[in-house]
Amino acid sequence: MPSNARILLTGATGQVGSELLPLLEPFGNVIVPSRAEIDLANPDSLRELIRSVRPRWIVNPAAYTAVDKAESEPDLAYAINAEAVKAIGEEASAIGATVIHFSTDYVFDGSGTTPYTETDPTGPQSVYGASKLAGEQALIASGAAHLIFRTSWVYGATGKNFLLTILKLARERDTLRIVADQHGAPTWSRDLARMTAHVIHQCEALAGVRPLSEALASLSGIYHAAGSGETTWHGFAAEAVRLQRERDPESKLATLHPILTSEYPTPAKRPVNSRMSCEKLAHRFGWTMMDWQQSLQDVLAELSVTQPAEATR
Ligand SMILES: NC(=O)c1ccc[n+]([C@@H]2O[C@H](COP(=O)([O-])OP(=O)(O)OC[C@H]3O[C@@H](n4cnc5c(N)ncnc54)[C@H](OP(=O)(O)O)[C@@H]3O)[C@@H](O)[C@H]2O)c1
Repeated sequence: MPSNARILLTGATGQVGSELLPLLEPFGNVIVPSRAEIDLANPDSLRELIRSVRPRWIVNPAAYTAVDKAESEPDLAYAINAEAVKAIGEEASAIGATVIHFSTDYVFDGSGTTPYTETDPTGPQSVYGASKLAGEQALIASGAAHLIFRTSWVYGATGKNFLLTILKLARERDTLRIVADQHGAPTWSRDLARMTAHVIHQCEALAGVRPLSEALASLSGIYHAAGSGETTWHGFAAEAVRLQRERDPESKLATLHPILTSEYPTPAKRPVNSRMSCEKLAHRFGWTMMDWQQSLQDVLAELSVTQPAEATR
């Protein structure tokens, strides 16, 4: 990899982007545009930036991620999740940059009970899912070398996520009703970032002296990258509360009750089957995503350092 290589990272304030930033630094000069410099809802600013920076890699975890709000803001969701990705792809193709992009299990309709593979038919049930699928398709059509990582149920010690919401509500309430008929896998944002760094390292080693985009031609495509194992939202919350009780037996935490999706209506429909097979990622890049229970323990351990139990009672 050239020593002056530039990596353009979007969404560095997000769950995945903030974990990516320190891990990308060993690969080159990481350019992190502020929100004032690029608004993905305005692809022109993005195009100009890519032309002036001429990055070797564009890593794009930025997205419109408000799944329910997207139902009433479809234009904005499509602008950020599809049109901006199209612009990234076209500009990357023009300068020979390689794009790493993130997508979602919500591109599937959730039918069946087995893990989806990358070649299974899509069928998004929500505006968010449809806008992310349109982004995938636009990137593929752009002709840029690309790696699209479809992930699910992203969480970590910071950011807006299910785990932090559940821990907060469990401290505040006596009971919580949690959906127990949607099946999938929680994915730690740091594990995704580590996987991404591993893949970049492998791609650079493979390219050697050849242009990166040329070397990656046969690797371009979609890869599923979700935590190993499976559970439900209720299973995830129950395990988090159980581990918290183990860590701090004095803590008073809510009792959890399993409910059906039909008992918790939301503006956006979610797939009941979000399971994704990550075998392609393991086969092509030798990376196995962390077991969700193991990563949950790691995140809770990190939280206990940053937010000791006494302070959260
Ligand atoms: N979260 C999940 O459960 C989940 C599940 C499956 C797939 N994914 C995918 O994984 C990727 C990373 O998700 P995440 O959880 O890290 O998302 P996140 O925490 O919501 O972060 C989104 C990032 O995008 C930025 N962004 C939003 N609108 C923007 C705009 N108009 N211009 C520039 N930047 C903008 C945000 O910046 P500000 O901080 O300035 O708003 C933030 O840095 C996304 O592609 C998402 O679709 C996420």
